[in-house]
Amino acid sequence: MAKRVLTTESGAPVADNQNSATAGAGGPILLQDQHLLEKLARFNRERIPERVVHARGSGAYGYFEVTDDVTGFTRADFLSQVGKRTETFIRFSTVADSLGGADAVRDPRGFALKFYTDEGNYDLVGNNTPVFFIKDPIKFPDFIHSQKRDPFTGKQEPDNVWDFWAHAPEATHQITWLMGDRGIPASYRHMNGYGSHTYQWTNAAGEAFFVKYHFKTNQGVRSLSADQASELVGKDANSHQTDLLQAIERGVNPSWTLHVQVMPAADAADYRFNPFDLTKVWPHSDYPLQRVGRLVLDRNPDNVFAEVEQAAFSPNNFVPGIGPSPDKMLQGRLFAYADAHRYRLGVNHTHLPVNAPRTAVVDNYGRDGVHATRNGSRHDKNYEPNSYAGPAQTDAALAAPLAIHGWTGTHEAPAHTKDDDFFQAGELFRLMSKDEKGRLVANIAGGLSQVTRDDVIEKNLAHFHAADADYGKRVEEAVRALRED
Ligand code: HEM
Repeated sequence: MAKRVLTTESGAPVADNQNSATAGAGGPILLQDQHLLEKLARFNRERIPERVVHARGSGAYGYFEVTDDVTGFTRADFLSQVGKRTETFIRFSTVADSLGGADAVRDPRGFALKFYTDEGNYDLVGNNTPVFFIKDPIKFPDFIHSQKRDPFTGKQEPDNVWDFWAHAPEATHQITWLMGDRGIPASYRHMNGYGSHTYQWTNAAGEAFFVKYHFKTNQGVRSLSADQASELVGKDANSHQTDLLQAIERGVNPSWTLHVQVMPAADAADYRFNPFDLTKVWPHSDYPLQRVGRLVLDRNPDNVFAEVEQAAFSPNNFVPGIGPSPDKMLQGRLFAYADAHRYRLGVNHTHLPVNAPRTAVVDNYGRDGVHATRNGSRHDKNYEPNSYAGPAQTDAALAAPLAIHGWTGTHEAPAHTKDDDFFQAGELFRLMSKDEKGRLVANIAGGLSQVTRDDVIEKNLAHFHAADADYGKRVEEAVRALRED
């Protein structure tokens, strides 16, 4: 094999990579040492802004294979045939901590999946929880500020975490989920993934359905207790990354089975609660799980920075037959992600290999910008319409239209008969075993008892009381006991 030569960025050979050029043996360094200057300057520019949330994560490639016919519900091409395979890239993540944070912590996990379909990339940017803390995107920056590091102390503060929740009764369901056994997954392989939001599917006849996605882990759900997690963090702060990387390197390819719940669009208006409320699940007794296919992860990225750090997932990347629902949270996210990508990675982030479509051809009139690598051929016009057979619109609607009524304004969601913020939190509590309830109560009390203001504690206790009398009583007793210690 030919010997590899070390070069500068412009490709010239480097004579010495161990000694800087100096004026005489003991003299100062010369400005003409191009290799040294380039090396130091380049090193200073290695970091890019980290994701404002979900900064810490792990990625893997794989494929999605359709196992069941869903063409009655969607005309999405990648779901059009049993046996059809589509290449995928997934990024799992924790949410609250910055890059370098530990993996085995109590926090939701991101489950962001990119399908490289023949009709363009489809991104499903979900979590390992079927619900979320809030239901209006206008609250998101405040929510995240309260959960991340305090600007003065530089640490996550129970006072801020619980003060936000004291003002967000709708978070009670997700808090019950997070503080329960599933709040610390044993690894990324041992947790489910959810689209969480309601999405819209449209079939070839133009009929609309609302759907929720559930990826059930085939490795089995496994979680860690708070004590197990602290011990693991001490031994391997990167435990999720280690587990995923090693499993795939060993050829133990993790997989998930995708199911959907499907609601005919006409059911939505009269359903007993708002089906677009992200703080609620749809009972399986109303809308049973229907199997769609399986996701298999079989290849680790070659370079974490290039492929995982620079991966960009946007809930706004849909394909024909799949579109947004009126879920307000989802609507906010349709803006937020691509905007974050333009800031974090630049306007041409879609040219990066991990983000570029694989088989679909990108052909449009977007041009230029920093690091443009895709500018069309010399014969392509950069305006439309044109007389030169440039790319043109299809005139085929991507999704069925939604009927909208009412006046513009800052409204609360339309009223349904059972829209309260607590009943599903209570149902989740009552589903738990005696031991699970004990651990849930201990976890909540461990956090809430550290809060310094009584009024914040009282407001939070009121939420647990409203969810279930026994739940409220037990949390209250546990908090009081810890505060009297
Ligand atoms: C990451 C905003 C709610 C899942 C992000 C990022 C932003 C953001 C700006 C960083 C994107 C990047 O730099 O690449 C928001 C806003 C929300 C919201 C404004 C509410 C209005 C949610 C919800 C879920 C979710 C409800 C899950 C159901 C994720 C995931 C990532 C992420 C998985 C990491 C994506 C990756 O791995 O690159 N979010 N988010 N977010 N968010 Fe959200």
